[in-house]
Amino acid sequence: MHRSALKAPAVDRHEDHLGGIDFQRIARLVEGEAGIKLPPAKRLMVEGRLRKRLRALGLDDFSAYCALLFTQDGLARELTHLIDAVTTNKTDFFREPEHFEFLVDTMVPTLLAQRRERQPLLKLWSAASSNGAEAFTLAMVLVDLMAKRNDFRFAILGTDISTAVLAQAQRAVYPAEMITPVPPDLQARFLMQSRRPGTRREVRIVPELRRLVSFSHLNLMDESYPYDRDVDIVFLRNVLIYFEKRDQAAVVRRLVGHLRPGGYLVLGHSESMIGTNVAVRQVAPAVFQKL
Ligand SMILES: C[S@@+](CC[C@H](N)C(=O)[O-])C[C@H]1O[C@@H](n2cnc3c(N)ncnc32)[C@H](O)[C@@H]1O
Repeated sequence: MHRSALKAPAVDRHEDHLGGIDFQRIARLVEGEAGIKLPPAKRLMVEGRLRKRLRALGLDDFSAYCALLFTQDGLARELTHLIDAVTTNKTDFFREPEHFEFLVDTMVPTLLAQRRERQPLLKLWSAASSNGAEAFTLAMVLVDLMAKRNDFRFAILGTDISTAVLAQAQRAVYPAEMITPVPPDLQARFLMQSRRPGTRREVRIVPELRRLVSFSHLNLMDESYPYDRDVDIVFLRNVLIYFEKRDQAAVVRRLVGHLRPGGYLVLGHSESMIGTNVAVRQVAPAVFQKL
């Protein structure tokens, strides 16, 4: 017999799997920290996303990863990376575009009609901002509107739990493929093309817009949010779907508490306010106005 046939086969990392018990421990941890539900059907997704972490940490298998994660020191060091890995950050410029039309045609005119000051400051909050595409879409349409009516100012805050997407939002650099939904005139005004030959084509948001948008880390599961309580418009789109009903209601109540009366809360089209028990009226699909 050939000698090598007697050797134990080398462990191929890609054949190692995230076992059911380890997955359940991770799922409990993630739900406890970030409110994100990870039902058994998500095990393969989590396994795939954590493989990169195993490689980055030089670990051989998922048991070693869990051994590291579930120690006090390991958790403190790894939690941010784990949250980055398990969050779904899919977003787009001009995603669910009717909301931006409603913003320009109805929300802003209605809000401005209630204000007495000259050039009032409108405060907007993209409360699960991902990489900033939603916040910068708001900035583009509002600068465009300001050029037409010149009677308001605005500031936008973007918050998210994932540090990886916040870093991209702060750089404001995006792959060129992402800008297809941006109308050509807005592309020409607000996006700078990268000119480095031989690299993937990228665009950067112009400084004029970057100055109007700031980003900050926030876990929506926190009991209170350290932000202003006279916000005009909150975009909370495509994040409630990841939470339990009880957490959805608590997040909506806290955010509505940050809106001024008459302010708007905008959800994703597949999300609802059922069971949240807040004093709002629905004014358009997935758009609610605080009473
Ligand atoms: C699918 S993206 C939606 C982005 C954007 N609002 C949109 O509709 O295009 C969901 C975002 O919610 C964030 N997220 C998930 N759980 C969160 C939490 N507990 N606190 C804050 N952000 C959270 C994720 O990191 C992710 O970037």
